[in-house]
Amino acid sequence: MWALRWQSSGAVAGLSRRHAGLPLDAGARAARGLRTSKIMSIIPRVLAGCVQFANGARPSRAQQRSNWHAALNRRKPPGPNPLLRPWLAAPLNLFPLCAAAGLLATAPGARAAELLVIRPGAVWPDDRGQPIQAHGGGILQLDGVYYWFGEDRSATNAPSHRCVACYASTNLAQWTFRHQVVRLADPEHLGRRWVLERPKVFFNDQTKKFVMYAHIDGRGGYQFASVAVFTCDTVDGDYVYQRSFRPLGHESRDLGQFVDDDGAAYLIFEDRPFGFRIAKLSGDYLTVEREICLLPEHLEGGALVHYQGLYYVVGSALTGWSPNPNKYATAKSLAGPWSEFKDLAPPDRHTYGSQSTMLWKVTGAKTTTVIFMGDIWKPQTQWDSRYLWMPLQIGGGKMWLPEPKPWTLEVKTGEVGFDAN
Ligand code: GAL
Repeated sequence: MWALRWQSSGAVAGLSRRHAGLPLDAGARAARGLRTSKIMSIIPRVLAGCVQFANGARPSRAQQRSNWHAALNRRKPPGPNPLLRPWLAAPLNLFPLCAAAGLLATAPGARAAELLVIRPGAVWPDDRGQPIQAHGGGILQLDGVYYWFGEDRSATNAPSHRCVACYASTNLAQWTFRHQVVRLADPEHLGRRWVLERPKVFFNDQTKKFVMYAHIDGRGGYQFASVAVFTCDTVDGDYVYQRSFRPLGHESRDLGQFVDDDGAAYLIFEDRPFGFRIAKLSGDYLTVEREICLLPEHLEGGALVHYQGLYYVVGSALTGWSPNPNKYATAKSLAGPWSEFKDLAPPDRHTYGSQSTMLWKVTGAKTTTVIFMGDIWKPQTQWDSRYLWMPLQIGGGKMWLPEPKPWTLEVKTGEVGFDAN
């Protein structure tokens, strides 16, 4: 059995406000534990769910999660609530059974278990019950809060604009929507089909600025091949576009982000003619200062992690939106020499339909877990693209992405559980 603890993060939420300029809402509120009034607001939904179940019409897991989120936040889930209709038609003799089940299901452990499961490939709702829009994204950790930034490909965005959304979490499983931090119209006159992809945010401790890098492109296909830089005074404020450039004069398409254990910040970028490069950011992070290594492999979606004295780099082949067998290599130093690239998963499974975007290390009190964060792209319905987050089997120069299945993470201990269904 996996043990889940509802985290008390009042101090964390207080600290983060300093940077965020906004109060933490659902994440911090939820982390304070169940309040009686919230239990009361959940009970009718659970009872109604029991009745619906008894009537043979079980809501989907996504709908259940969405309803839990909605109950927590006292907001209606999107669209008509299908759980309420069978309530009227339910036979009265089901009531005691449902009441008991409802009370059991609202115990803190049951609720936490339902909410803290990470389901690779499933719709991942935010605190509003809306699918998280953070594709090709990256994670920034600050004062105990995780911020997930990524491409917001909502169908409701203005067609001329490209958007980046920001979400916050204290457990990497439940995410609170914070803000659409970028909503930008073609700043370099790249044409109708311009792109702003793979945004990554760094926090610069010297300037206290948040600096975002993203791939900006569009003219004549992907020929602009540059990075766009944005800055902001708060983590989830409106990021201001500064400029675009080619890092160290090189073509740059897919971007990866890496902050080493010593705090040094690096950009990984794909340079089509040569391979992919790892480069160090300048002191203020506003430019790319120095190349650390050029890996001659033609890989994109580059991501790095430092684990037990070894660097592991992962990347995907250049097949656009179509998944391919992602590969990894290791080195004792970022500058190399790097090992040969090996398969991260059975090659015929094409990384289980995903593409790498980040490797994230959770250093807990008991163990360290490295998470593979990937995108499952849906090019025709991009707003419905999904995420594949899975803990990696890693160590001794080997890294393996196991068959995706639901899992749980306890960030305080670093422990992972697989008993979720
Ligand atoms: C992928 C890349 C994505 C996007 C896509 C467009 O290879 O990783 O970020 O650029 O190509 O085809």
